[in-house]
Amino acid sequence: MTTDHRAEPSAPALNRPATAVAHPNIALIKYWGKRDEQLMIPYADSLSMTLDVFPTTTTVRIDSGAAADEVVLDGSPTDGERRQRVVTFLDLVRKLAGRTERACVDTRNSVPTGAGLASSASGFAALALAGAAAYGLDLDTTALSRLARRGSVSASRSVFGGFAMCHAGPGAGAAADLGSYAEPVPVAPFDVALVIAIVDAGPKAVSSREGMRRTVRTSPLYPSWVASGRADLAEMRAALLQADLDAVGEIAERNALGMHATMLAARPAVRYLAPVTVAVLDSVLRLRADGVSAYATMDAGPNVKVLCRRADADRVADTLRDAAPGCAVVVAGPGPAARPDPGSRP
Ligand code: DP6
Repeated sequence: MTTDHRAEPSAPALNRPATAVAHPNIALIKYWGKRDEQLMIPYADSLSMTLDVFPTTTTVRIDSGAAADEVVLDGSPTDGERRQRVVTFLDLVRKLAGRTERACVDTRNSVPTGAGLASSASGFAALALAGAAAYGLDLDTTALSRLARRGSVSASRSVFGGFAMCHAGPGAGAAADLGSYAEPVPVAPFDVALVIAIVDAGPKAVSSREGMRRTVRTSPLYPSWVASGRADLAEMRAALLQADLDAVGEIAERNALGMHATMLAARPAVRYLAPVTVAVLDSVLRLRADGVSAYATMDAGPNVKVLCRRADADRVADTLRDAAPGCAVVVAGPGPAARPDPGSRP
């Protein structure tokens, strides 16, 4: 038998679809604004709790005969910007893996997409895991988190369960890319629930990307919000180590309100809060006046997430239902890390 040593070793065929499941996370210390939009490097560190509700399940199937990637979201082929974000992400995975084959990505969300309920966090965390596996990349959790960040900064945190922080990291270019990733945050055993009032499940009027861009460029409050976020983060880490729910809640609430104030000071203003949001915030104040530890946080949308003890979650949920009639209210707890899901492979 002769062997042709001149022939290039051909890359192994990629014929195993890979499926992964990831959960959204809610930031208790927010990131808002990127110092590098292409590499997705945030200005600020952030810290979040991964939820045990609203998972995203994503399957990546390599299709070596296909001329283009196919992206299916909740059963329907997608086009436009949403598809482009996935294709750009797959291009990065292909570059890392040294492969060129196109793929079909099938994503199922159990949370409305684009409504400030963190579907991009669970979506890109699941895509990072499934994409890396389908293209034969063997990455540790730090590298997976870094990769997920390239899809959506908040996705870097959904690679981990429980509480996680994303480092903004130092520097620019490749050094910044290397230094920006999430990791688990140590907490004392912590009795906590997050009660979510879904005030509006429709897509937001201003995308978070555009909202961030405008806030960074035009809000005179932006630098001081980033600076106060640094202090908030240090205090938050200490409060989590003490399992001090009131401190955690107070810090999270002021950090979120500061972020929204900073957006409101942008020109023109970026306003995600709706009248019902404010009614829910009032009901949280009433709960506190009645002695219930309840604290609100809001992201790039009108929905309100209320941090409280598990034992108070039903009472908090009833209060939010009264304040926001007709709105769905969901009780969540700390959730698991993103994981491969071989069981659901088609
Ligand atoms: C207000 O991570 O969804 O929820 O990085 O552009 O995809 P991209 O935005 P995304 O923004 C999250 C913003 C936030 C705060 C946070 O989760 O830290």
